[in-house]
Amino acid sequence: MLAISKRLIQVGALAAGVVGASAAFAQAPAPADTTPTRVTLPKDYATAFQRYEIVDREDRKIARFLFVNKEALANVKPGEAFPDGTVIVMENHTVAMEAGGAPIKGANGKFIPTGRVISVEVMEKRKGWGETNLFPPEKDNGDWEYAAFKADGTPNPIKLDACYSCHLPQNKDGLDFTFSGAKLREAAKR
Ligand code: HEC
Repeated sequence: MLAISKRLIQVGALAAGVVGASAAFAQAPAPADTTPTRVTLPKDYATAFQRYEIVDREDRKIARFLFVNKEALANVKPGEAFPDGTVIVMENHTVAMEAGGAPIKGANGKFIPTGRVISVEVMEKRKGWGETNLFPPEKDNGDWEYAAFKADGTPNPIKLDACYSCHLPQNKDGLDFTFSGAKLREAAKR
C-alpha cells in the first residue's frame, strides 16, 4: 500500500515536473544528459564542516576528503539512520606522484594531497525528497539526493543515475546509503 501511494506521488511529481520543465525550457534548455538535483554546494563546508575521513584511491590516484555538517554529526544516534539535513561533501584531490606516475606515500603510509581539488561530490538528505525525486524504485536512495560540482564549485551538469545505483546497495548495516558511514559514526562519538 505504501509502495502504491508513493508511486502515485511520484506520478504526480512527474506531471508537476513536466510543467516546471517546460517553463524552464523556455529560458535555458537543460542538456538531456543532465539529472536535476536540489543539492547545492555549501559555500563554507571547508571551514564549517567536520572533516571525518580521507580515503586514498589507489586505482584513481586521488585522495578524497570527506566532510559532514556539524549539526548532523551532533545528532547521529546509534541504531538510527543519519539525521534529516545531513550533508556530506567529498572533495577529490590530486596527490604527489613519482616521475613514473605512482603516488608517493608519506611517513603515515597515506598519499600526499597536493592541495589541488579536481571535483566535488555531495549527498544530502531532506525529509520528503525521497517522495518527490523522479527515480524509479530500483534506484530509490530514500531521502538522499546527489550532486556533482567542478573544482571551482560550479555545478557539473551530468547524469547522476550512477550515483544512485552505486550507493543503493549501501542501504545496510546502518550505513544509510553511504560507504563511509562507519567512520562518520566514529566521528560522532568523538
Ligand atoms: C561506482 C560506484 C560509485 C559511484 C558511481 C558513485 N559513488 Fe560516491 N562513493 C563511492 C565509494 C566507494 C565511496 C567511498 C569513498 C571511496 O572509497 O572512494 C563514495 C563516497 C561518496 C561520498 C562520501 C559519503 C560516502 O558515501 O561515503 C559522497 C558524498 C559521494 N560518494 C557522492 C557521489 C556522487 C554525487 C556521485 C555521482 C556523481 C557518486 N558518489 C557516484 C562509490 C560510488
